[in-house]
Amino acid sequence: MTRIIALANQKGGCGKTTTAVNLSAGIAKRNKKTLIIDMDSQANATAVFINQKELEKTLYDVLINNTPFKEIIVSTKIKNLDIAPSDIMLSAADIKLANVLGRERLLKRRIKHLNNYDYIIIDTPPSLGLLTVNSLTAANEIIIPISMSYFALKGVTLLEETIQGIRENLDHPELKITGILATYFDPITNVSKDALKMIKDFFKDLVFNTIIRKNIKLEEAHSAGMSIFDYAPHSSGAEDYNNLVEEVLKYE
Ligand SMILES: Nc1ncnc2c1ncn2[C@@H]1O[C@H](COP(=O)(O)OP(=O)(O)OP(=O)(O)O)[C@@H](O)[C@H]1O
Ligand SMILES: [Mg+2]
Repeated sequence: MTRIIALANQKGGCGKTTTAVNLSAGIAKRNKKTLIIDMDSQANATAVFINQKELEKTLYDVLINNTPFKEIIVSTKIKNLDIAPSDIMLSAADIKLANVLGRERLLKRRIKHLNNYDYIIIDTPPSLGLLTVNSLTAANEIIIPISMSYFALKGVTLLEETIQGIRENLDHPELKITGILATYFDPITNVSKDALKMIKDFFKDLVFNTIIRKNIKLEEAHSAGMSIFDYAPHSSGAEDYNNLVEEVLKYE
């Protein structure tokens, strides 16, 4: 069965896209057929892998124009890794879908027939709107990245309530949180150490053993259009994301 994992946290800039990109790349490099779905109209994950000027169709066409999902999938430079791209048009989806019946389940229905992937990783936008709800409804697992800063836990209750709402009201009781991922960890600051203690007290065993440290190479890799494993294989970012890949694969 395909593992479908969504990266979610409505807080902006907590490492959702960085994690979606490097987790997908790391899994694909272990010979698992992987698809990354970019459900964010900022299209940051898309920009890493493909030249957006060459894009013909995107998730917008799938969700709004009924384009078959397979028609928008493109392969990336990484073996075993495909992407379902997004662009700025997707920002209109919330409004366009407001009155569509079954609007929370569109993505789930559209990907139902994709049976050739071992892993599908979904990057979501920094909101709890319809695109995130569609992502969580289509997924069977969630990874929540949280940056180790002040207010680390702010908004987390709202996210948990949304997840619970999807389990109960959208008939998806098996949706589970695979793990909470501490990101932007800076071992020399007390803020980071305090935040890590706080999320471990709050989420207990749900916190991944892997901690993603602050590492500028992650940002550089993103702007170079590469995964951290290709851009800086000996960096702390590559080491941390490698550990995360191993930890996620362990749950198979
Ligand atoms: N561990 C890290 N160390 C240093 N920089 C990082 C790290 N993780 C992410 N970044 C950088 O921080 C910025 C925000 O990260 P990212 O885009 O992954 O967050 P996001 O949660 O997807 O943001 P948004 O909510 O806007 O979609 C990016 O420029 C990224 O390269
Ligand atoms: Mg993002």
